[in-house]
Amino acid sequence: MCSVVGYNGPRPCRQMILEGLSRLEYRGYDSSGFACIDSTSKIAQVKTQGGIEQLSLKIAAQQGQKQELNGAIGIGHTRWSTHGVSSDINAHPHFDCHKTTAVVHNGIIENFVFLKEKLQLLGHHFISQTDTEVVAHLFEDELKNQSLEKAVLSVVTKIQGAYALLVISEKYPDYLIAIRKSSPLCLGVSSTETFVASDVSAFAGQVDQVVFLPDESFAIISKSGYHVYNFFGERIYPPVQKSTCTWTAEGKAGYAHYMLKEIYEQKRVIIDTVNFLRSHKSAGMQQLNVSHELIQELKNIHFIGCGTSWHAGMIGEYFMQEIAQVSTQSFLASEFRYKKFFPYPRTVTIIISQSGETADSLEALRLLTASEQPTIALANVASSSMVREADGFLLTQAGQEIAVASTKAFTAQVAALYLLAHWIAYIKGLVTTQAIARAEEELFVAGEILENSIERYKFDIITRIAPQYAHYKNFIFLGRHISFPFALEAALKLKEIAYIFVDCYPAGELKHGPLALIDAQTPVVLFSCLDETIYKKLYGNAQEVKARSGHLIVFAFEHQKDLIALADTVFIFPKVNPLLAPLVMTGLVQFFVYQIATLLERPIDRPRNLAKSVTVE
Ligand code: AGP
Repeated sequence: MCSVVGYNGPRPCRQMILEGLSRLEYRGYDSSGFACIDSTSKIAQVKTQGGIEQLSLKIAAQQGQKQELNGAIGIGHTRWSTHGVSSDINAHPHFDCHKTTAVVHNGIIENFVFLKEKLQLLGHHFISQTDTEVVAHLFEDELKNQSLEKAVLSVVTKIQGAYALLVISEKYPDYLIAIRKSSPLCLGVSSTETFVASDVSAFAGQVDQVVFLPDESFAIISKSGYHVYNFFGERIYPPVQKSTCTWTAEGKAGYAHYMLKEIYEQKRVIIDTVNFLRSHKSAGMQQLNVSHELIQELKNIHFIGCGTSWHAGMIGEYFMQEIAQVSTQSFLASEFRYKKFFPYPRTVTIIISQSGETADSLEALRLLTASEQPTIALANVASSSMVREADGFLLTQAGQEIAVASTKAFTAQVAALYLLAHWIAYIKGLVTTQAIARAEEELFVAGEILENSIERYKFDIITRIAPQYAHYKNFIFLGRHISFPFALEAALKLKEIAYIFVDCYPAGELKHGPLALIDAQTPVVLFSCLDETIYKKLYGNAQEVKARSGHLIVFAFEHQKDLIALADTVFIFPKVNPLLAPLVMTGLVQFFVYQIATLLERPIDRPRNLAKSVTVE
């Protein structure tokens, strides 16, 4: 999950590339760098540990020194380390022995050790610990005695793995090379200049046409345009599309962090998602591209996702089974791909992904496509690979989610799945359009409760509750039925932004071992449920905790007096449709975790070791 951005045209490109990188920085930010071909046709470069801010400071410090950084052909990179620690040396770009070729890379060169040893035997000397550096040395050899196109073809036959590569070389000072295998790469084109980036948002507003490089292809970009080839060396002509991507540098709008801003956007996001999917005839629903016949004969629905998106799918299982009466199962993308795969008849698979670029989920999609299984991408980024590659898609309307920890995108996913379940039930003749209208209203109410619950407990959480719990090193989170996947999501939030260890179980599992973990140093957070039978079981689980002097934090509903009475700390919510219980608790638990992480002075929007879009396996 790094980002690459490049440019070839008439204008000095450093600022444009740095701006593009800063827009994609959420994808990886532990180091960064820039290189260009300067006016003397030499490579000028700067790179650093740290993000774009550090890079800009380093560039400013070099102003007026030996190298100018104002070339009109350039490449840039922000990194999330896969091979080699985060350092100046391991930052991209990487170079050949004579620093005449520069390379930036998103992905993993899986056979780099083998290639590095071969190249070292040929006399090449390496200075970094990265996989990427082998590409620069390969080009050093391949560019010696053949054309750019043939050099690229030689290199791609040697490297294995996933890669989006940008290459510039003093041997061909007017050309920029862009190579794609698995990792996303797109061109922003106009009659006078060409951008290339991991994501279209990097050059939104600069050009209004986009070309998505097909998998296993490369582009040779000159001052007068670009040529695209496949890995057999044949010219190909990917369609030029109008770019719908806009970039609003709206910033944090006065909030301390993007995450807090996005927590407060959730009510709006639910409304926007409902309105976008409003009627079953809406454009949003039509984009599903699934025939009514298939829906009426539907035997199974499968969800595939990672992290928060996987949790949304687990919640969506209850919607599909209870409302649409369809057997539904969720799969972790990283596991799904390596288990024996049986093509299921009359089954639709929905790949859930905020970014639409997560490598594990994208590869699972490709496996399903190869098996001709109907696929739908439930994504938040219209220009993403999954939206382009799935048979149909459903776009959540969360807007750009910048914080690495997903909040509003999760809420949008849950809302969209709730509506989709009703749409499927309607097509199957199980419900009327009144039920769909009621579902929309229930979601609006859930959004109100979500926001009101934050306002209700905000002061208490900031002044008393978060300080009371911020010093604990371990928590146990419990849920049951539909509140178990929600407990998993809540636990992920505490882990990823506060770096606090959380073990999360279905509450019924407590007595089968984890109960031994209960002590005064391990608070238990229990998320209640509105299903009466399940609630009684959860109340029993809460008593098990208290009977062992456990400390209990409870998210409960206003009529659940017994459970509320057991809690050491309690957050109370008004009753809603039982299937929407997780949705109404979402904002408050995110706010609670956010305040703990703030007290611990964590870098909220960019947690250590993580990135927003995991485009490598
Ligand atoms: C959630 O807070 C994390 N950012 C992470 O688990 C994320 O949900 C996961 O990487 C999947 O990303 P996607 O939705 O873009 O596919």
